[in-house]
Amino acid sequence: MSEDTKPKEEAGATEEPKTPPSPKPARRRRKPVRRENTGDAPAEATGVARQGRSPSARDRVTDRHEVKPTVRYLAELKGKRPIVGLTAYDAIMGKLISDAGVDFILVGDSVGTTLLGYDTTIPVTIDDMVRHTSAVRRSDPGCLLVADLPFGEASMSFDRLLESCRRLMQEGGADAVKLEGGRDLADDVEKLVATGIPVLGHIGLLPQTVKAIGGYRKFGSSREEAESLYTDAISLEEAGCFAIIAEMVESKVATVLASQITPPLVGIGSGPDCDGQILVTQDLLGLTVKGVPSFVSPYANLARDASVALSRYVGDIRKKRK
Ligand code: KIV
Repeated sequence: MSEDTKPKEEAGATEEPKTPPSPKPARRRRKPVRRENTGDAPAEATGVARQGRSPSARDRVTDRHEVKPTVRYLAELKGKRPIVGLTAYDAIMGKLISDAGVDFILVGDSVGTTLLGYDTTIPVTIDDMVRHTSAVRRSDPGCLLVADLPFGEASMSFDRLLESCRRLMQEGGADAVKLEGGRDLADDVEKLVATGIPVLGHIGLLPQTVKAIGGYRKFGSSREEAESLYTDAISLEEAGCFAIIAEMVESKVATVLASQITPPLVGIGSGPDCDGQILVTQDLLGLTVKGVPSFVSPYANLARDASVALSRYVGDIRKKRK
């Protein structure tokens, strides 16, 4: 990631602990990471191949991968170049984001707070997720499409979890699913992967637990918490996750974690040294009426632009004489 594309937090907008704890307790035995259900990594599939020359108008219109990235392709980007992910919830945004050349789109349960007017992601249902995932799929994205498993779906039974993942893939058209949670979910993740469902892990701040933890905050500022994050990350690696999202993890802890696990650690609010970054697109584009998290530097202010255009239209119509 070049300096000028780093989110604000990466330039130091959030506090860091003075002496970051090492998240490395005694290392458990590591099973080899399974990566079933993956295709071949395309050799030259990236916008990165295009780095180093100024973008032509054509590049700006579309920078799609020439070959659609697979989960294996994403996993193998680790150590080569930063992975880029963004959220989308509809076909229009799916197309724009895919054409910009992202490696993966996440249909996040953040649809609840960004589009559906909820205060948290908790009210989002599996039907919501299937509907929004299939909308993004219809944009024919040229990147990996990952769908979030919403609140509660992993907690009832493995059969319910499997059925929800089946719906996200068969009805929604997702290539992979994302589950919030660490070591407690590892056994289920292992069974999903064995069934043919690629899983993206998610550790650190888990927005679906916001009611239980009492608000959004950083994770990993105590040694205990850093070690717990390490155990979560290793458990998900051993269970077969092809990559892991680290949300709101102390930057220095995330850096150490990324260096200690084989799958890519994709950060959100977790500093610049993860193996990639994901953001909520509405935050990146300033398409929000409630402000954006402190670690985001918006690249546009679409809410302001829309507001100006809408007011102009209302004014123009009113000015017309009958
Ligand atoms: O739902 C979502 O958009 C997410 C990202 C914030 C990682 O989980």
